[in-house]
Amino acid sequence: MTPVDPAQTPFRRTDADWWRDAVFYQVYIRSFADGNGDGVGDLAGIRAHLPHLAALGVDALWITPFYPSPMADHGYDVADPRDVEPVFGDLAEFDALLAEAHALGIRVTVDLVPNHSSHQHEWFEAALAAGPGSPERARYLFRDGRGPDGAEPPNNWPSVFGGPAWTRVPDGQWYLHIFAPEQPDLDFTNPEVLADLETTMRFWLDRGVDGFRIDVAHGMAKPEGLPDMEPMEDTGLLDDHGPGDHRFDNDGVHEVHRRIRAVLDEYPGTMAVGEVWVSDDDRLAQYLRPDELQLAFNFKLLTADWDVDELRDAVVHSLATVAGTPAPACWVLSNHDRPRHVTRYGGGEVGTRRARAAALLQLALPGAAYLYNGDELGMPDVDLPDEALQDPIWERSGHTERGRDACRIPVPWSGTAPSYGFSSRAETWLPMPEGWGPLTAAAQEDDPGSVLSLYRAALALRRTSPAFAGEGLDWVPAPDGCLAFRRPGGLVCLLNLSGAPVPLPEGRVLLASADTADGLLPDDAAVWLHA
Ligand code: NOJ
Repeated sequence: MTPVDPAQTPFRRTDADWWRDAVFYQVYIRSFADGNGDGVGDLAGIRAHLPHLAALGVDALWITPFYPSPMADHGYDVADPRDVEPVFGDLAEFDALLAEAHALGIRVTVDLVPNHSSHQHEWFEAALAAGPGSPERARYLFRDGRGPDGAEPPNNWPSVFGGPAWTRVPDGQWYLHIFAPEQPDLDFTNPEVLADLETTMRFWLDRGVDGFRIDVAHGMAKPEGLPDMEPMEDTGLLDDHGPGDHRFDNDGVHEVHRRIRAVLDEYPGTMAVGEVWVSDDDRLAQYLRPDELQLAFNFKLLTADWDVDELRDAVVHSLATVAGTPAPACWVLSNHDRPRHVTRYGGGEVGTRRARAAALLQLALPGAAYLYNGDELGMPDVDLPDEALQDPIWERSGHTERGRDACRIPVPWSGTAPSYGFSSRAETWLPMPEGWGPLTAAAQEDDPGSVLSLYRAALALRRTSPAFAGEGLDWVPAPDGCLAFRRPGGLVCLLNLSGAPVPLPEGRVLLASADTADGLLPDDAAVWLHA
């Protein structure tokens, strides 16, 4: 495959640093669009909806794993990182998608899952067959157990998905899996493991992808001797549990990132964003050193409540994190692992009103932004009945944690009944609710008051208005319960959580999440002005 020649494409930015202020769109492939009628989203579905993404105005896609997988974690258990899962299509379909996206000016980034493979990866099958002490086992983290007959796990680490992070194999050894037992952790001190990751990167870069989203980018390195971690509650969530949690953020991880960056640097204009669940500003900043990641997701906005102090803190800390690094901030409101922000903010009309305001906050902030598919429609979470749940968390937690299915419901495209144009069949891999007709893209398309119209207008302004110039921001005085900032190009963003309408600041209104005709910004709303 020939890498894309940026000069020949309609990309908004053709320089190597295009990602600094890009709007990325996360395609959770199983739930975006189904092209072959099996009720599961796929590459053909993405191709068919590229016009929607072009009209929305996004700069780039992040496509979640579409590699061969037994789907124990819906694709994050990769059996072969250099091929396409038949449920999603094939390599020719991927190449066609890449070419068509590029022709529309949309870059394409794909998921890299270095920390673990599937238990059905040929390496793991070979490791099981080869036995203790073999080079095949040395690609993973096999250890003898503790206690009489080694019947206790080698340490006390819990799996993020519930239960111990160790599973015993018939010959008595145990292997480490920070996630599901079907996701054995690889040993990154083994040079073969890193070399294979580089091979995978080159495989996709040579086909022309523009970069990677790196899964569990604070994983990979494990501490010498795999010591017990501090016992703590709620370690099941992929989150930052502090320095006592030895499963993540070990210093050795930075060497892996330097190797990843060295490969990317051979392909100018490519980039990586890391999923780094590290909340300490200084430790997170280490991942953004000049020879490591270009971007790290900012999960502070995604975890903040609808509370003016929490939101301001999220922005302040995120900007402080990047201040001493070459990186811009990278803002996220929702993804496929956490409740959607419409729901987090209260759901229903209130949640939607706040989500509209949050969108203007996210898209006014300097740096890159990631949208999650369906954000642009104002999708909420859906409570599913027990029997519909598919996330491994549900089983692994002994049915105490419902997992992440609620935020992974297929996207509604058109029509008035399930599956709303998502698939040619009504039944989808996660069921879609009744009553979503008004939420569909088709229903919102021509409605100037819709969430979709708001996103389109916001992205168009971001692309074209000089108000968005410059990467910094200054806080400006605002009424109690509000926050306001100004970008160097003259953009002023005011967000109102005060409980009452507040006067609009000076300037020409560019866009508002609610009606401002009377010169007031309502509660739970945001406005952009050029001043
Ligand atoms: C983070 C991904 O976002 C999540 O969906 C997955 O379950 C874990 N990493 C394990 O790969």
